Amino acid sequence: MPMRPEMQLPMFNKVLNDHVGHGKLDYERTIRTGELLGLHDHETATISHDGTVFVIAHQCQELKLKLATHELSYSADLVEAGQVGQAIASLDRVRVVFECLIQELDILETLSPRNYQTVRKTLGKGSGQESPGYNQIMAAGPVLWKALSDLLAARNTTLSALYHDPDADSHLYLLTEAYTTVDGLWQKWLFHHFMLVKRIIGISHDTNSLAENKTTMLASSMMRPLFPELWSIRVAMTHEWVEARGHH
Ligand code: HEM
Repeated sequence: MPMRPEMQLPMFNKVLNDHVGHGKLDYERTIRTGELLGLHDHETATISHDGTVFVIAHQCQELKLKLATHELSYSADLVEAGQVGQAIASLDRVRVVFECLIQELDILETLSPRNYQTVRKTLGKGSGQESPGYNQIMAAGPVLWKALSDLLAARNTTLSALYHDPDADSHLYLLTEAYTTVDGLWQKWLFHHFMLVKRIIGISHDTNSLAENKTTMLASSMMRPLFPELWSIRVAMTHEWVEARGHH
């Protein structure tokens, strides 16, 4: 949908005494705003007002997923190098990115079921599984996990020992908790997405995705953690306590 003429680029900026929006100013060249802001001219983005919202909101998600992967790759390097404090700081940045990712899904919750059906007609057989960012984060999981388990082994400890006695190596404990925070937010994103799908197209055994997958499939896939061991340690500890006390 075309924007009102007064709001369209290029436009004159009085402070700069120049036109913004040709993609030629230093800032525009560094950020590549010409390409970035010109990515909304295809069928889905132009079919309706909400088509533009759909495309930009998805592009924002892909960019944030890329940002998170970029940082997770760095976190893995730091864990491998045994730089625990810096790895915690890096994972904390991933936390912020994931929080934004989750919050931003709310933009799509404002699409009405009726308006979405118009957009959906242009999506072919597109599936969420085709999201590059999703695939990258899923691939990051085992890489980060290997880096952490190698570090635990190098420090002669195990996840179980660390969780039973966090003060024995508090930095390592904080690192594993930073992993847990990131994983928890990843699953929250999947859950938010599940609620989004429920709100817009509905979740039921006879509601299929464009790729002919059952929407109910999402209920189980959203529970899949990046680092399963960090969740099973909690279950194991609860079992131990229950056994020690003799009741639930
Ligand atoms: C109007 C908004 C949306 C609707 C109606 C929607 C719908 C669906 C449906 C029906 C599925 C299940 C079948 C399939 O894999 O295609 C799905 C999966 C998926 N969607 Fe979306 N989606 C929306 C927004 C998004 C956004 C913004 C992202 C971000 C990249 C996303 C990422 C994914 C991913 C990664 C999956 C696979 C998840 C899994 O298998 O556990 N979706 N979506």
